[in-house]
Amino acid sequence: MIFKSSTADVPEVTRVPRHLAIIMDGNGRWATKRLLPRVAGHMKGVEAVRTIVEACVQRGIGYLTLFAFSSENWRRPEEEVSLLMRLFVTALEREVVKMHANNIRLKVVGDLSRFSAELQRLIAEAERKTANNTGLTVTVCANYGGRWDITQAASKMVAANPGVHDYTEDMLAPHLAMAYAPEPDLFIRTGGEQRISNYLLWQLAYTELYFTDTYWPDFDGAALDAAIASYQQRERRFGRTSAQLAGDPN
Ligand code: IPE
Ligand code: IPE
Ligand code: MG
Repeated sequence: MIFKSSTADVPEVTRVPRHLAIIMDGNGRWATKRLLPRVAGHMKGVEAVRTIVEACVQRGIGYLTLFAFSSENWRRPEEEVSLLMRLFVTALEREVVKMHANNIRLKVVGDLSRFSAELQRLIAEAERKTANNTGLTVTVCANYGGRWDITQAASKMVAANPGVHDYTEDMLAPHLAMAYAPEPDLFIRTGGEQRISNYLLWQLAYTELYFTDTYWPDFDGAALDAAIASYQQRERRFGRTSAQLAGDPN
């Protein structure tokens, strides 16, 4: 299925966002505040993922995309990185069966080549197992960076179009890692920071942005509803005027 590009067309706007993209931030501070090791925050963060996946199913959201590990997160202390990798492995081992039973399709996007062979195998297996599911699509961005995504898409676009020198957006877009999904309608960042941190740079062109101070482990269905309520107040103009949206062509 080909989705409308927000820059080439005016996409359809639905009351409930079709695609929700989240930066799950604040795990470390959640733990530190409780005098716990940072990893305790990451573990609690996995529980929040479970809660939000269920909440998205209940609310009829089609695509949920979660930033789990950025291409810059390798800069963290080795011990935290390896704990995060282990958590990723156990989460996959535990959750995929349940996701499959709930008709959820799981995708993992990012430069996976840097992950262990075991993790790569688990990811491939999980994606294969859930590939034909027709419910919520959950995408986990792992060793993902928006710049990486645009760069790898550009390389593929050039290879697919030998001899071409004039490239267009619609030639690049199909090569982006998440070409199977519409552009996000709503972006949520928990944890209080107001930045994109090299997330979906291309795809967020016309996404509504929502920032909350709530730490990711505390983010629940009610917090999600507050974000959706804020989204429903927004006027998505995609370059047009308010009057045009109201039906006045002038
Ligand atoms: C987000 O929480 C999880 C990852 C980046 C893996 P953080 O670990 O960034 O938590 P804070 O920002 O230090 O509180
Ligand atoms: C962004 O959070 C990445 C993830 C949530 C996976 P960070 O905590 O790494 O972002 P910065 O470093 O504060 O920008
Ligand atoms: Mg952080």
